Amino acid sequence: MKFEKHIFVCINERAPGAPRQSCGEETGAAIAKRFKELILEHKLRMKVRAQRTSCFDICEQGPIAVVYPEGIFYKGISVSDVDEIFEQHILNNAPVERLQLTFPKK
Ligand code: FES
Repeated sequence: MKFEKHIFVCINERAPGAPRQSCGEETGAAIAKRFKELILEHKLRMKVRAQRTSCFDICEQGPIAVVYPEGIFYKGISVSDVDEIFEQHILNNAPVERLQLTFPKK
């Protein structure tokens, strides 16, 4: 099945005292849960999928979520940002600029 939008949320959790920060299992799971709630509320289960995943290796910018097919990375998000991302990006194809992670051009 090909989804119209596929959302991946990092839930990687490092051990206490690890040299790098991590997005966090609790935070990532709560973010993914809110995306899933909105998918169900909007009856988009066959078109949009949100799932938990592991590290994208951009941990210092986390918590991280990525939306495909656009490949838009969101940084430093919290559960309170999910409704805005869903409304703008998932429903209206307008990524939320203030939360986007931009990569340096090669
Ligand atoms: S721990 Fe989330 S991007 Fe690395």
